[in-house]
Amino acid sequence: MYGAGELVGGEDRVKLLVTGAAGFLGFHVCARLMEDGAQVTGVDNLNSYYDPRLKYARLELLERRRNFDFHRIDLADRCAAQTLFRSEKFDAIVHLAAQAGVRHSIGHPHAFVRSNVQGFLNVLEGARRLRKPHLIYASSSSVYGANNKVPFSTEDRCDKPISLYAATKRANELMAYSYAHLFGIPATGLRFFTVYGPWGRPDMAPYRFADAIEQGRRVEIYNYGRMLRDFTYVADVAECVTRLVERGPCGFRLFNIGGGAPVPLMQFVHLLEAALGKRARRRFLPMQPGDVLSTHADVKDLEAWIGNRSSTPLETGVDRFVSWCREWWRKPQSIACRAAS
Ligand code: UGA
Repeated sequence: MYGAGELVGGEDRVKLLVTGAAGFLGFHVCARLMEDGAQVTGVDNLNSYYDPRLKYARLELLERRRNFDFHRIDLADRCAAQTLFRSEKFDAIVHLAAQAGVRHSIGHPHAFVRSNVQGFLNVLEGARRLRKPHLIYASSSSVYGANNKVPFSTEDRCDKPISLYAATKRANELMAYSYAHLFGIPATGLRFFTVYGPWGRPDMAPYRFADAIEQGRRVEIYNYGRMLRDFTYVADVAECVTRLVERGPCGFRLFNIGGGAPVPLMQFVHLLEAALGKRARRRFLPMQPGDVLSTHADVKDLEAWIGNRSSTPLETGVDRFVSWCREWWRKPQSIACRAAS
């Protein structure tokens, strides 16, 4: 167990593996862990689900740090994963690499099973080989499916995923349970709730909406806007993950990582309009397959374990996100991301 802010240790620096390091969450988590002095090995396959130039730009910032090294690895490739875990030892693993996108999973099932199930198995096998490092891995609020009991608690049943993405994330939790049981690997699963903020994924609503508003294109709003999301600011998420690493293992656990304050989707659109100083042209569409109506995290367990945590107000988070968007749009490499949105 490492005390708060104690990932620094001179020559005994805590050595962490962060998978999906060039992704949205991975980037922020690596940066935050390194601030506390950890030695971080990042891996990512740098795939082109969205424009990889965004991933390279994140990576370039991480690589400026002396306590970071990077390997381009596809964790679904068994041999590549084995080589990684044979050649390096880690005190803890933060597994964030995944094929993301709730609605995208409907048309691309194989990519999800390959990355999220096969890839996860290879990480579990790596952890088994390393002999009980703390494994922290990304799950998702989508595992609650069409659950209408709110707030969503980790005690609730989660056996009705309504997208394949959600099914793969629930599968990860069950696989982690069996490895914790069989091999004593301490595994902490994190159910993330619609994370947003600077360096966000271009396939997610915040970026899609902001870009459409800025460009004067129509913002496509599903279920006629009648949805609630527990939007969670990315720096708050990175802080939670860091504190979970510092607090150390706790057997098999699941935590919700959410702001705990759901807002109507249209409120999010209004905040973006205010931050961008432009009105959105709206195109209201029906509910999309795989989508859930509302999400709301019960975070009592998390706060009991890591103590009180910061929760950035949505207005502040949206302002920071829009400031980053403006910077990113000024860079030539963002052009292809726009076209993809
Ligand atoms: C997000 C992430 O994409 C998942 O990777 C993550 O696992 C999940 O959060 C989670 O909470 O676990 P989602 O909530 O669908 O999934 O996030 P967005 O794609 O940003 O969508 C947010 C809301 O905006 C949803 O209600 C969605 O229906 C809506 N939306 C999205 C639109 O109305 N229009 C769009 O073009 C995109």
